[in-house]
Amino acid sequence: MKQKEIVTLQRSLLPDTEALLNKQIEMEGKSSAYYLSMASWCHMMGYANAAQYLYTHADEERMHMMKIFHYVNEAGGHAIQPEITGIRHNFHSLREIFELILEHEIKVTKSINNIVDHAFGVKDFATFSFMQWYVTEQREEETMSRRALELFDIIGEEGIGLWTIDQELGKLHSAANAGE
Ligand SMILES: [Fe+2]
Ligand SMILES: [Fe+2]
Repeated sequence: MKQKEIVTLQRSLLPDTEALLNKQIEMEGKSSAYYLSMASWCHMMGYANAAQYLYTHADEERMHMMKIFHYVNEAGGHAIQPEITGIRHNFHSLREIFELILEHEIKVTKSINNIVDHAFGVKDFATFSFMQWYVTEQREEETMSRRALELFDIIGEEGIGLWTIDQELGKLHSAANAGE
């Protein structure tokens, strides 16, 4: 009985919430690995700016993962280092990469929204408040992904199109970093 009381006092996270946060840790860890793999492909193919953009993005996703990791442990839960498998290494084109990123970010947004909804439902306002940072971050990341993808339609991929797109991705990357 004593043990039970101690456990109750030590933790502020409900098991359901902890499970959802651990799933999000896994999702951010996979995002990081996914973007690193994309960065490598771009680097190898000579898209230097796209590669830089994606190397940075991979680091940011790891930071997203670590923020939740610490939150879970500080709240008395147990953050789980996720298994990262099934990461794709080859892509058909630069455009495909940016289409995949947007699709992936939309999935992440849905998952974040689900946690926010859950936290509100169970009156876990600490987690609700903690997750607001992710809500804002997802809005920014989706906007960036859409703008990156628009470059392919605006510039076109023929001739020096892909080279120009890579240059513009570099500018988008610098602008995003300056805004932080
Ligand atoms: Fe993320
Ligand atoms: Fe992201």
